[in-house]
Amino acid sequence: MIKVGVIGCGYWGPNIIRNFSQMSRTEVSRVADLDQERLAHIRKLYPFVQTSTMSQEILSDPYIQVVAIATPINTHFELARQALEQGKHVFVEKPLASSSQQARELIQQARKQERKLMVGHTFLYTSAVRKIKEIIKSGELGDIYYINAQRLNLGLFQKDYNVIWDLAPHDISIVLHLLEQNPVSVQSFGACHINPAIEDVATLSLDFGNNLIAFLQMSWLDPDKVRKMTVVGSEKMLVYDDIQPAEKIRIYDKGVQGPKYYDSFAEFHYSYKYGDILIPKIDGGEPLQTELSHFIDCIEQDLTPLTDGENGLQVLTVMEQAQSCLQNRRAQNKEAE
Ligand SMILES: NC(=O)c1ccc[n+]([C@@H]2O[C@H](COP(=O)([O-])OP(=O)(O)OC[C@H]3O[C@@H](n4cnc5c(N)ncnc54)[C@H](O)[C@@H]3O)[C@@H](O)[C@H]2O)c1
Repeated sequence: MIKVGVIGCGYWGPNIIRNFSQMSRTEVSRVADLDQERLAHIRKLYPFVQTSTMSQEILSDPYIQVVAIATPINTHFELARQALEQGKHVFVEKPLASSSQQARELIQQARKQERKLMVGHTFLYTSAVRKIKEIIKSGELGDIYYINAQRLNLGLFQKDYNVIWDLAPHDISIVLHLLEQNPVSVQSFGACHINPAIEDVATLSLDFGNNLIAFLQMSWLDPDKVRKMTVVGSEKMLVYDDIQPAEKIRIYDKGVQGPKYYDSFAEFHYSYKYGDILIPKIDGGEPLQTELSHFIDCIEQDLTPLTDGENGLQVLTVMEQAQSCLQNRRAQNKEAE
C-alpha cells in the first residue's frame, strides 16, 4: 500500500482523496487544509484519515510516499518544492506552478531526488481526447488546418488569477498533446468587466507555423456552459463536445477544395463535400482515476508520466506568453487613454 497525503480539500481535492481511497494500491493517510470546516467534512467521509491545518505534518511523515497538491495556484511551487525535498513523489494540480522558472526548478529538484513529478492535466486522460489523438494519428482528418476551442461558463470568478490561468491549462494541454508540437508564437486578448484587475474573458491564438493555428476562447461571463473543440483537417472535420453525456465526438466527412487546374477566374469553382457524420464509440470511466492510476504506475514501474514536469512547463510557457501579451496591451491602452 502506497501512503498518500493530500494538501488542499476545497472543491477539487476531495475528488483526489476519493480516487486514491478507491484504488487498491493506495491509501490516503493524511489530509491538510487551512480550513477547519473542510477538514471536518473530510473526517466525516473518511474517519480513519488524519487531518491537520499544517501541511508540514504530511511533508515530514516518513511513511507518506506520495503528496498530491490541490491548493490555489500561488501555493503550488512552494508546497511541491518542499515535498520533493522531503523525498516524496509529487502530483500537482494544474497549472504546475506560477511561472516557467518555478516549473524548471521543480523539474530539476525531482530529477535530483529521483522522484516523480506529475501535473494534473486531466483532459489528457479522458477517453475522448485519447480517441481524438488516435483519429488524428491515423490520418483520417488529413493535414490539420486549425483547432478552435471554447471553454465558457458563468463563474466561478477567482480572486488571485484571471480566466486564462483558471481555464486555459486544459485546452492548451489538449492542443499541444494533439498536435505534438509547441507554438512558435502566442497572442492573446482579454478584458476585465467585473474585477478591473482580472480578465474574465480572453482569447489565445497559437501559431504553430506551416499554416497551422489554434484559437482558444475562455470566459467566466457566458450564460451557457460550453466545452467545445473543433479540429479541421484537409480530409475531415471533428467536433468534440465535452458537455454531451455520450456522443462527445462527431467526425464530419465535410471539406472544400479549389480546382486543380483552371485557366480563367470563371472556371475557378470550389468543390464542397457534404458526407456522412460518424460518432465513434468512446469508453466511459473517470479521467481522474485513469490519471492517478497512471501516476502510481509510473512510480511503481519507474516510467515517465504523460503529464510530467516538462509537460507542465510547456503549458506554462504558453500561458506566460499569453499573460505578457495581455499586460503589454493593458500598458498600451493606458498610454492611449
Ligand atoms: N484538474 C481539474 O479538472 C481541476 C478542476 C478544478 C480545480 N483544479 C485545480 O485544483 C486546484 C485547487 O482548486 P479548487 O477549485 O479546489 O480551489 P479551492 O479554493 O476550492 O480549494 C483550495 C483549498 O486549498 C486550501 N489551501 C490554500 N492554501 C493552502 C495551504 N498553504 N495549505 C493547505 N491548504 C491550503 C484552501 O483552504 C482550500 O480549501 C487548483 O490548482 C485548480 O486549478 C483542477
